[in-house]
Amino acid sequence: MGKTVILDHPLIRHKITLLRDERTGTRDFRILVEEIAMLMGYEAMRDLPTELVEVKTPITTAMEPMLSGKKLAVVPILRAGLGMVDGILALVPSAKVGHIGLYRDEVTHEPHEYFCKLPKGIGERLVILPDPMLATGGSAIQAVDFIKQKGCTNIKFMCIIAAPEGLKALQTAHPDIDIYCGCLDDHLNEDAYIVPGLGDAGDRIFGTK
Ligand code: PRP
Ligand code: URA
Repeated sequence: MGKTVILDHPLIRHKITLLRDERTGTRDFRILVEEIAMLMGYEAMRDLPTELVEVKTPITTAMEPMLSGKKLAVVPILRAGLGMVDGILALVPSAKVGHIGLYRDEVTHEPHEYFCKLPKGIGERLVILPDPMLATGGSAIQAVDFIKQKGCTNIKFMCIIAAPEGLKALQTAHPDIDIYCGCLDDHLNEDAYIVPGLGDAGDRIFGTK
């Protein structure tokens, strides 16, 4: 059974408030998304396995922990998930990076896949799947379906803002994965946008509207 963590940390909430502000421009928006991803990544990687290695300090020799293995992949959901990658890689620079391209149909809100490229041996890796927004949950559910088909069993989904509807849908479809949310918002509106939310994350990161 996976766990759901709503981070609700003052530093993260402060930065999310800045993200929500419609006056926040593309440059600051990108910087904030990256910073939040790094803060969230710190928590999401709390249970990474470690192994004891011998280290010689100026004082003595001791057995101390280091991360064991290098079996990690970051697989952002395009486009908006891309904005979170560098923040996560700042913590685990040697992680492999894959990409899953999904877009929501504007009328049906159903996700459509248009790209997928995953690192070799993805099935043996812990996969961190970042996407700033979990709205209906359709995109996240499809992305997890997809990487599970490739043999992945150890999956952590990370979003900056979740709607209760999307969180429930993702938990129901994939009860085995860990889910990390920066905060839980109120509801979805009739266009399946998160309220209060921050608008369209992809457009705000890439300045496309
Ligand atoms: C946004 C967001 C998620 C999805 C969430 O992407 O980045 O991937 O919507 O909505 P859902 O939970 O209802 O599926 P969008 O489809 O707008 O594509 P983009 O990142 O290319 O802008
Ligand atoms: N996708 C976004 O970018 N924002 C929302 O509020 C919902 C889906």
